[in-house]
Amino acid sequence: MTQITLRRPDDMHLHLRDGAMLQAVLPETTRHFARAIIMPNLVPPVVTFADARAYDARIRAALPQGSTFQPLMTLYLTEGTDPADVTAAAASGLVKSVKLYPAGATTNSHSGVSDFGKVQAVLETMAEIGLPLCVHGEVTDPTVDIFDREAVFIDRVLAPLRARVPGLRVVMEHITTEEGVAYARSAGDDLAATITTHHLILNRNHILAGGIRPHYYCLPVAKREKHRLALRAAATSGDPRFFLGTDSAPHTDALKEHACGCAGCFTATNTMPLLAHVFEQDGALDRLEGFTSLHGAAFYRLPPNDGTLTLTKSATPTAFPAKIDTGAGTVTVFDPGFPVHWQVTA
Ligand code: DOR
Ligand code: ZN
Repeated sequence: MTQITLRRPDDMHLHLRDGAMLQAVLPETTRHFARAIIMPNLVPPVVTFADARAYDARIRAALPQGSTFQPLMTLYLTEGTDPADVTAAAASGLVKSVKLYPAGATTNSHSGVSDFGKVQAVLETMAEIGLPLCVHGEVTDPTVDIFDREAVFIDRVLAPLRARVPGLRVVMEHITTEEGVAYARSAGDDLAATITTHHLILNRNHILAGGIRPHYYCLPVAKREKHRLALRAAATSGDPRFFLGTDSAPHTDALKEHACGCAGCFTATNTMPLLAHVFEQDGALDRLEGFTSLHGAAFYRLPPNDGTLTLTKSATPTAFPAKIDTGAGTVTVFDPGFPVHWQVTA
């Protein structure tokens, strides 16, 4: 097959930032994606319905002329989040999820949750109204090895949390392990998991063997090869509980190539061609549309998009830009380390 046409895709986990960075990275997503779940970890974070309305307006103001892209807004869960504010935000249709960052787990997560007792009421409200909780699934206990933090989170935090709040709809964000895949497979239809493009491509050797590659560093960090293979199997399986959330997370090169580099891979520009490559390699091109355009919309109870996206394979490798210029500095586009022959042609 050298051409495939899909329903227009959705990115169910995206970092757009703000200001000059937002202006520069937004077109990279809107060129291919119709909607995206927008992460709220700004400084300060998007905590209230009012914060989400204001951020939504800034995103819409930054849209390229004529774009019909729809931001799907997310509230940042804090120990002070008000259940009534969440209810109003969901009822308006503007806010589609609430994001749980364990305090200290990742970029700008210090306002996240330490004491889960303090968010019990808001989680119960979300269960009642069917609003999904998007979960960054890593424990922050410094004694837990960073490569084990997802698996330990499932046992210590996620399973007990779901038992305490029956009916809560949960998205395990950017899963990176076979334990994450197994947990998602064992759950009912109130749980789903997003998978990033880069975690389908990288294992930890790519980050660390033969020199440290800061542009491959993200959180959760890529794991052993067996985990990457489990993610590939899940993404290409056709199981509706797995769908795309790129976690495309721009940081300037100055902050990535640094003594203490930021976590995040910027994949918005080339995600769809990379996924076509991955799905073709696994003999699953016919399941790409489910992963990018149908399963996520179904979980979020949204209609699939009307438009389409066509990917074409050519004999010559596609030339993607190496970097995006932003008013804040350059951002490196994710380089998979192998030639990709697919490109978006319509
Ligand atoms: O790699 C990551 N980057 N993981 C996250 O959880 C946050 C994100 C960011 O905001 O940069
Ligand atoms: Zn993220």
